[in-house]
Amino acid sequence: MDDMVRVSQHPLVRHKLGTLRDRTTEPQRFRALVGELAQLLFYEATCDLRLETRTVQTPLAECAVETIAERVGLFPVLRAGLGMSHAMLEALPSCQVWHLGLYRDHHTLQPVTYYNKLPPKPNIDLAIVLDPMLATGGSAVAAIDIIKRWGVQRVKFVGLIAAPNGVAAVRNEHPDVPIYLAAIDSQLNELGYIVPGLGDAGDRQFGTS
Ligand code: PRP
Ligand code: URA
Repeated sequence: MDDMVRVSQHPLVRHKLGTLRDRTTEPQRFRALVGELAQLLFYEATCDLRLETRTVQTPLAECAVETIAERVGLFPVLRAGLGMSHAMLEALPSCQVWHLGLYRDHHTLQPVTYYNKLPPKPNIDLAIVLDPMLATGGSAVAAIDIIKRWGVQRVKFVGLIAAPNGVAAVRNEHPDVPIYLAAIDSQLNELGYIVPGLGDAGDRQFGTS
């Protein structure tokens, strides 16, 4: 795997991912874990954000401090990316959040876009696409296509679990997009589910199975 694909080896990520995969983990805990993992990966995905300095007055003296100088847009893919964007927004409240509605057709596994309310012109410096599952990669590639066509060229993808096919699809179609993950599993099954994976990330977050 090249250095554009980063699978976190942090013990907190490894630990929380195990509980997330467990079929006995209930939606409430599952949602919390999606958020906790998203924050940990967000920390890694934002490690190169540009900073600028300003001066504040502490109770004791003047002090030069740093502040984030870039405008970050979060692009959760509905539905499953929602739990990730909430948690990231807690970590960096100045983020813009733009929802992208995409679902996979169950027969063709091709992504279908059903919601996109992007304004005519972007005013962000970095777009981060959020989707816990990178299976065939169709949804991620479609989301990145939409964002680049909109006018933002600096894009990152943050997911939780990927299949090798999904990683390869994003690498082929968008080789400039770094991918941040908690795991890459061995395969997809015949229905397009990641194995061992965690099942359906949307259903498990929202109790809809
Ligand atoms: C899931 C997941 C991704 C997509 C991944 O969404 O959240 O968006 O499948 O699959 P792909 O890499 O093969 O495109 P789903 O279509 O189940 O929609 P939902 O979140 O609304 O249930
Ligand atoms: N979407 C999911 O929610 N889970 C998978 O394993 C594949 C796609």
